[in-house]
Amino acid sequence: MRRRLIAGNWKMNGSRESLAELDGIAAAAGAAPGVDVAICPPFTLIERAAARTPTLPIGAQDCHSAPKGAHTGCVSAGMLAEAGARLVIVGHSERRAAQGETDAQVKAKAEAAIAAGLTAIVCVGETEEQREAGEAEAVVSAQLRGSVPVAGGDVLVVAYEPVWAIGTGRIPSLEDVRVMHLEVRAVLSDLLGADRAEAVRILYGGSMNAANAADLLAVPNVDGGLIGGASLTAAAFVPIIEAAA
Ligand code: G3P
Repeated sequence: MRRRLIAGNWKMNGSRESLAELDGIAAAAGAAPGVDVAICPPFTLIERAAARTPTLPIGAQDCHSAPKGAHTGCVSAGMLAEAGARLVIVGHSERRAAQGETDAQVKAKAEAAIAAGLTAIVCVGETEEQREAGEAEAVVSAQLRGSVPVAGGDVLVVAYEPVWAIGTGRIPSLEDVRVMHLEVRAVLSDLLGADRAEAVRILYGGSMNAANAADLLAVPNVDGGLIGGASLTAAAFVPIIEAAA
């Protein structure tokens, strides 16, 4: 039985002042013992966030695949763990698009994260053009085959985030979500074997909010959410945690 995971991705938002939001989020997480809750703030806030709310898992939004070395401006998974992170998002579509990250790089990052003791959240998702061309499942399947580390199990999380749903207020039909999450489970089963694939949580991401969370979370194989805008305040995020409880 997979535990639901409700994870917030603050992206390049937030300041020390914003960490006050974590108090309400941690309280709501404490009141929902059957749900895993996490927040991924910018790198600079990880250590303070982890110290402020020790019961609330804190994550990062990227890591390098190497443990150390001449990689100016980068942060390794081990460094994140030392700062108090317990998970890390890799391969977010914003990084695939803006930083040109490839499936192979995403896979190497996920492997490094797991080796450092972190949970890796591997993101996949199609663009609007790809969906309109009827290629959504093929695109996501190919991303999974290239990006998913062999470890599998509960240290691996997959986030299906249709690019066109991110920050737009639009979401796919629940039937499209059902079909895609079933496809993701099938590809994971092919890659990892049925048992290890069953333990992988598949999150939906893209304009999830208090109004649509319950419907999205009721879809088979939707094991939680990766939430951007609606994770920035406790007022917006707590109802999503409550919907998952
Ligand atoms: O990683 C979460 C994200 O891309 C979804 O963002 O703002 O549409 O919830 P948002």
